[in-house]
Amino acid sequence: MRIETLNLSKIYGATKAVDDVSVSLGDEVQVLALIGPSGGGKSTFLRLLGGLEVPTAGAVKIDGSPLPRDEDALREVRRKNGFLFQSFNLFPHLTALENIVLPLVEVYGRSRAEATGRAGEVVERFRLTDHVKKQPGQLSGGQQQRIALARAMAHDPALLLLDEPTSALDPEMKAEVLDLIAELCESGQQIVLSTHEMGFAKRSADHVVFLAEGKCVEDASSATLFENPETAMVSAFLQKVMKW
Ligand SMILES: Nc1ncnc2c1ncn2[C@@H]1O[C@H](COP(=O)(O)OP(=O)(O)OP(=O)(O)O)[C@@H](O)[C@H]1O
Ligand SMILES: [Mg+2]
Repeated sequence: MRIETLNLSKIYGATKAVDDVSVSLGDEVQVLALIGPSGGGKSTFLRLLGGLEVPTAGAVKIDGSPLPRDEDALREVRRKNGFLFQSFNLFPHLTALENIVLPLVEVYGRSRAEATGRAGEVVERFRLTDHVKKQPGQLSGGQQQRIALARAMAHDPALLLLDEPTSALDPEMKAEVLDLIAELCESGQQIVLSTHEMGFAKRSADHVVFLAEGKCVEDASSATLFENPETAMVSAFLQKVMKW
């Protein structure tokens, strides 16, 4: 999948959350990581790529076609994507399985039997079969996030967008969710991931975009950005966050 942004900006009041960002990624980029300081624009950039926000100026192009700006057409774009956020956003009154089945029925128009079959496949793939009958409150944070990831993958998204999927988790649970995301990376899934997990970004991403104050400070292959950053800002950031 080719992802391009052309002078992409998103402005909230006086804040330039994303400020005139132009990047062009070819088909060889399967996993893109967005990194940089807090408030730098990672979530906003990710939401623009996924069609969750309309740019204030500029455009996003996927495989050469600009994302639409009108709400109905954007809803179609979102339906094709899968999303996972920091907070799990599971329905608390439904079982884990039903959290996966319900969107397949309501949003993707699958029959209940078909949706239940598909949900069974993804929970098995994500080693969650033992937990399907539990409600989110009876699951650990890591298990809830794995259910949310299974839900995001259930309709075979063209692009999976993950916004700091592990930042609300304890270290052990972080590891179990990152293991699963790494498996998805290896399986060929197209992924855009915003993360503060630098080790994971370095290992799993093909390409990295570093955002600060809404600007793209550097974008490069993961090997280049982590081993030979061009700018003093990226170099200082990496030294600080990779020190421990
Ligand atoms: N809906 C919004 N309304 C107003 N301001 C916003 C909104 N979303 C983001 N911002 C502002 O835009 C800037 C970029 O925010 P964003 O959430 O994209 O950064 P981030 O890099 O994801 O940060 P973090 O690492 O803390 O998640 C911040 O100054 C933020 O306060
Ligand atoms: Mg964010």
